[in-house]
Amino acid sequence: MDQYLGLVNRLIPKPPAPAVIGIDIGTSSIKAVELASGGLEIRRWAIEPLNGNDAKEALKRIAERLQFTNQLLFSAVFGKGTLIRYVDLPRMSLDELRKAYVFDLDKYFPFDPKSIYTDCSILDPEGKDKKMMVLLAAVKREIVDDRLKLFKEAGLELSGATINSIATANAFNRLGPPVTASGKAKAVLDIGGSASCLMIFKDASPRFARDIFVGGQELTKKIANMMGVDTAQAETLKRQPGDKLGQIIEACDMPINNLITEIRLSLDYFVTEKNIQVDELFLSGGGCLLKGIESVFEKNLNLPVKIWNPISKVRLNAKTADKNIESYASQFGVALGLGL
Ligand SMILES: Nc1ncnc2c1ncn2[C@@H]1O[C@H](COP(=O)(O)OP(=O)(O)OP(=O)(O)O)[C@@H](O)[C@H]1O
Ligand SMILES: [Mg+2]
Repeated sequence: MDQYLGLVNRLIPKPPAPAVIGIDIGTSSIKAVELASGGLEIRRWAIEPLNGNDAKEALKRIAERLQFTNQLLFSAVFGKGTLIRYVDLPRMSLDELRKAYVFDLDKYFPFDPKSIYTDCSILDPEGKDKKMMVLLAAVKREIVDDRLKLFKEAGLELSGATINSIATANAFNRLGPPVTASGKAKAVLDIGGSASCLMIFKDASPRFARDIFVGGQELTKKIANMMGVDTAQAETLKRQPGDKLGQIIEACDMPINNLITEIRLSLDYFVTEKNIQVDELFLSGGGCLLKGIESVFEKNLNLPVKIWNPISKVRLNAKTADKNIESYASQFGVALGLGL
C-alpha cells in the first residue's frame, strides 16, 4: 500500500514551490531578497533605511517594492536573548534528536525552558567515537513573538524565523569560498549598525558564533565627535571620505581596536578549545564598506582579511531585479541565507 501510494504521489503533478523572500531587519536598514526556487537567482531585492525605529512602515514599503503575493517570508533575530550551542551527542536520527534534546534544555541554555523557542540541526553526523556534532539554538519567546507581531501589523505573515548567524551560515555554506582540504577554519565578521557577529566555519559548517556590541553606528559617533560635525554629516563623511580618509580611520581607531581585541580573544579561544587554526577572515555587513578597514584588521590580526561578496555566485534576473545591487552586496549575507 505504501509503495502504491508513493507511486501515485510521484505521478500527480505538484504545484511549483512558492518563491522565498529573506527579510533581514537590521538596526540600520531592512534588506530583503526574493530568490527563485532553487535559490541561485535573485528575482527582486530591496534595501530600506530605518529612520528612527519605524520598522513597520519600512516593511510595508519593502512589501510594495517586492510585490509580495504568495511568497514565503523568512526573517532572523539576533543579540541578547538568542543563543547557539555546539554539542557532541551520541549518533541518532534528526527525529530522535528532536525528541531527546528538549529534556535537557536547562543543561544547554541559561534560560527557563518555558521562556524559549528552540531548534536543532545535525552538523556532522559522523563525528568521532560514534558521536555527532549538533547545533542547538534558543531564542527568548518574546523576541520571536515581537517579530511575528511586527509582520502582522504590516499586514504580512512570517513563515519562519532563525538567528542571524544561522542565516549567514546558510549563505556562507552555499555562497562562500570553495572548501579546501587545508583542515583550517575560516571566520566571517558581519559588521552591522549596532553590533558585529563573528562566526567561525570548518569545511563551510558553523562551529562558533558570537555577537560583539560594536558596529558602524559607533564609528559614525566617533567621527562626529572627533571632527566636530553632526551625525548625518559624519555618516556622509564615512561613506564618501575623499581626502579625509586618514582622519576618519584615526577617529574610528578605538571602536575598531575594541572589535579587534574581541576577535583576537575569540580566535585564541577557538584554537585552544578545538585545536583548529583560523587561516582567513572575511568581512561582511555595511560596516565593512569603510574604505581600508580590511587592511586595519589584517595588520592587527596577522591574518589575510577579505571582503565577502555573497552575491558573486548568484544570478540577477535580467527582467525583474534592479542591477544596482553590487554596492550593497556585502549587506545581503543574512537576507540571502534566509532565502536559501
Ligand atoms: N559605504 C559605507 N561606508 C562605511 N560604512 C557604511 C557604508 N554603507 C553603510 N555603512 C554602515 O553600515 C552600517 C549598516 O550596515 P548593515 O546594513 O549591515 O547593518 P544592520 O544589519 O542594519 O545592523 P545590525 O546588523 O547591527 O542590526 C551602518 O552603520 C552604516 O553607517
Ligand atoms: Mg545586520
